[in-house]
Amino acid sequence: MSGARASVGFVDFNAQLRLEPPPPSDRVVISDAFELLATLPDESVDLVITDPPYESLQLHRSRGTTTRLTTNWFTTVPDARLPELLASVYRVLRRDRHFYLFCDEVTADVIKQQQGVGAGRLPNGARPCEAGFVYWKEVLWGKTTLDGARIRGGTGYHYRAASERILFFEKGKRPLIDLGIPDVLLAARSTVTGPAVKPNAVVRTLLLQSSTAGELVVDPFCGTGVVGVEARAHGRRFLLGDIDLAYLDASLAGVAPPGVAKRVADGIDPIAPPDLEELASAADEVREAAEAAGWLEGDAGTPELAELLRIRPREREAAVRRSLRAPPGPEEPPLLRAWRAWALSGRRIS
Ligand SMILES: C[S@@+](CC[C@H](N)C(=O)[O-])C[C@H]1O[C@@H](n2cnc3c(N)ncnc32)[C@H](O)[C@@H]1O
Repeated sequence: MSGARASVGFVDFNAQLRLEPPPPSDRVVISDAFELLATLPDESVDLVITDPPYESLQLHRSRGTTTRLTTNWFTTVPDARLPELLASVYRVLRRDRHFYLFCDEVTADVIKQQQGVGAGRLPNGARPCEAGFVYWKEVLWGKTTLDGARIRGGTGYHYRAASERILFFEKGKRPLIDLGIPDVLLAARSTVTGPAVKPNAVVRTLLLQSSTAGELVVDPFCGTGVVGVEARAHGRRFLLGDIDLAYLDASLAGVAPPGVAKRVADGIDPIAPPDLEELASAADEVREAAEAAGWLEGDAGTPELAELLRIRPREREAAVRRSLRAPPGPEEPPLLRAWRAWALSGRRIS
């Protein structure tokens, strides 16, 4: 505001609005998490629940200790950037709010070291962090069998990994809604296809413990969007981001990037492409679409198809979707348009 205006008591309400735009809500965006957080005003968010692709996943991949992660489902965020992530989340959260960060044991150690979380405690038992939060504790997701009857053993040889960590941070002071909930949340693995999908039941507990109806919940590494699905089901507003929405839950397509909603609205019925291994011997219509997609040239596979075929079949879907997400050409075969609609719709093959 200029000095002249200030001297006559002029208040520039528009400038105030520009400084503090209303927080965006019920949206899913394709964005790098750090860039998305950077667009949000200070103290504009009520809860962050997120699950970054941490660097130690590379360890599991290289050791092959997990079959699900032996190929690249997604790029990882280096440990060196985690302090930046925590600082950004701290900045965008309002006072007296919570932050939950899913991670494994290795990353939990890294974060505590980076944040200077040691043995020293505040009088209330919490531990201060470099980013400004206090750190309360690890909540565990205990992985059960599908019927919930018992803990289901996972990977590793020094006691099977049957749990995941959820680091629980607080900015200011906010009581949990229900003080009787234990810090081990039992739930079966999600049956939804996608990269390290978290169970709805676990996300629901965190959401209901740390937000009230109408509050804004953010997940900048949203994957399938389970945080948005639960936020919507419980009357919270939400903003989700991911660099790749290949696995986004179809129910969120309407608040996803215009392309997604538009295709659905355009009435193009999404059709999943056939098994890529079978393309060369497929029906004419399929081969015509595959050729227009750049996967076949005559009867021969292109280098792009070879690249896709190098990925193991059950992990290929995200890459196939990415390959189909180019804007449609003017004379494109209708079947290719339907494949592109599928790639944008968030629908899954199975
Ligand atoms: C562990 S998964 C999240 C899974 C999610 N919690 C769910 O239940 O579906 C991590 C996600 O981060 C995304 N991702 C990787 N790097 C990213 C980045 N720099 N910014 C935003 N998203 C990123 C990946 O595409 C992946 O969907």
